[in-house]
Amino acid sequence: MNISANVSLLALNTLALPGCAEFFCRVSTNEELAEALAYARAEKLTVTILGGGSNVVLAGDIAGLVVQIATRGIEQCPQGDDAQSIHWTAAAGENWHRFVQHTLAEKSYGLENLSLIPGLVGAAPIQNIGAYGLEISDRFVSLEALNMATGKAVHFSKSDCEFGYRDSVFKQGGAGQFVVTSVTVALSEQATVDISYPALAAAFAESSQKAPTPQQVSAAVCRIRQQKLPDPAVQPNAGSFFKNPVLSSEQWQQLQAEYPQLPGYPQPDGTIKLPAAWLIDQAGWKGAAGQGCGVHREHALVLVNSGACSGQQLLQLAGDIVVDIEQRFGILLVIEPQVFGSLNTPV
Ligand code: EPU
Repeated sequence: MNISANVSLLALNTLALPGCAEFFCRVSTNEELAEALAYARAEKLTVTILGGGSNVVLAGDIAGLVVQIATRGIEQCPQGDDAQSIHWTAAAGENWHRFVQHTLAEKSYGLENLSLIPGLVGAAPIQNIGAYGLEISDRFVSLEALNMATGKAVHFSKSDCEFGYRDSVFKQGGAGQFVVTSVTVALSEQATVDISYPALAAAFAESSQKAPTPQQVSAAVCRIRQQKLPDPAVQPNAGSFFKNPVLSSEQWQQLQAEYPQLPGYPQPDGTIKLPAAWLIDQAGWKGAAGQGCGVHREHALVLVNSGACSGQQLLQLAGDIVVDIEQRFGILLVIEPQVFGSLNTPV
């Protein structure tokens, strides 16, 4: 394990924002990870865990030790709890999409709707990644983690994770306390697909594949994502920049009376989720430019680094959008990616 000082993180976040780690190391095994955590404890350094950097806004330099997780390994577990399910475990440093493709190739189905989500396996449960009608919590069994304060291994069951929409215990009470080392999901050999999400249903309504296979669903999800979302390698971005707000049905009806076109997705608990992209689009922000950054032309929920903007400039644009949406619609948007570092942090 090699610890370096003053390392640029520009190439390690998909928004390509500038910022340095006071100390940095890349760990390829769980033993190296434990060693890095022990070093940080001994030196009294705060620890920031970096995965694929695809859901991160670097506000500036990061004090303490930044640990990049590069562990590998995907394995089918001996058996699931029930005869129907096949359990798979992946190391936290595995690329999420590679994991999805691996399970599909092995005829274990159930992750196809989550194809092409950027980032690493270890980050997936933290924000309970979701797309096209599925969240990782729908397939989740358990995860293994290390307690950063003690270095001890901890097992988290599904209920321990307290999953919500783009939320988990790791963003709430357990924030900054654990580092995920592996994730286990339950998949199925039955190729039952869910294409009810509107964009996916529309893709198959137009095609001749009326009873698509999981592989065809995965391919369709990849096509939709590639059409709608900018490639970070071309236009640096972090996917959806804001969470979709969730309203009570009364709040939603009041707003809908004013905006008859307002879309809304009823949730199982009676609340209604509405697309933040619609609000931002209606307010005229789509394609708008900030200082070195802007709102993507094709999708109003995605902020892009169009030049060489700083995290502060990007957060300024996000803040302007939040204020405007609140004034127009009375809805407070919440930023979805994690904000790391601060321009005011002395390094
Ligand atoms: N819309 C607009 N203008 C736009 C884009 C969208 O009005 O420029 C409206 C349309 O009514 C559209 C609706 O917003 O039907 C929903 O758009 P979309 O299907 O693209 O989904 P989203 O709500 O914007 C969410 C996730 C995405 C995920 C998609 C597909 C969040 C914060 N985002 O986006 O996740 O891929 O659904 O399931 O929940 C991510 O988290 O980074 C991410 C990309």
